[in-house]
Amino acid sequence: MDTSLAIKTRLDVREFSDQPVNRDDVIAIIDAGRMAGSGKNTQHWRFILIEGREKLRELASVSTTGKWVADASFAVIVLTDRKFPYHKMDAGRAITNMQLEAWNRGIVSCIYTGFDEDEMRRRYNVPENYSIDVVVGFGRPKRKILGKKSRRPLSELLYVDKFGQRL
Ligand SMILES: Cc1cc2nc3c(=O)[nH]c(=O)nc-3n(C[C@H](O)[C@H](O)[C@H](O)COP(=O)(O)O)c2cc1C
Repeated sequence: MDTSLAIKTRLDVREFSDQPVNRDDVIAIIDAGRMAGSGKNTQHWRFILIEGREKLRELASVSTTGKWVADASFAVIVLTDRKFPYHKMDAGRAITNMQLEAWNRGIVSCIYTGFDEDEMRRRYNVPENYSIDVVVGFGRPKRKILGKKSRRPLSELLYVDKFGQRL
């Protein structure tokens, strides 16, 4: 898929079909995360892959804003080393790569940030120095995705030379 088209049409989708995602696609999607840039090229992300209906349900059970992950084909818990002040930005870049790589393969995804952190840390054995930034759920779409985005116009967001000065 053309990169501009992928950026313009990818949506955060929370409904997934039962159609499986094959292992090559799973690995390629996570590998796209690895390809992201990170501050000083520190590459401190760690990715935990969660697959299988029962494990996905367990993941959903400790979420407050991502219960939908129970129906995903697989999910990735994204961790970054909290000692880097830019660690959340690094997480964002890896996540974006993964979501675009998935969309290029017809696989939809969404992220969530609401969960019981202590319980996640305990269940998934996450060391204290890692921040649990986000969970990304992936799967084949349940219905056709039209790719229509609800976004503010650029004229509202873009300033020239100084804050508040519109193009
Ligand atoms: C930092 C961040 C946190 C988010 N957290 C959640 C979340 O906890 N649960 C959820 O269902 N969606 C979450 N989302 C998805 C947003 O709701 C979504 O990106 C936004 O509504 C735009 O969706 P669209 O691209 O489909 O238009 C999050 C997105 C971002 C960027």
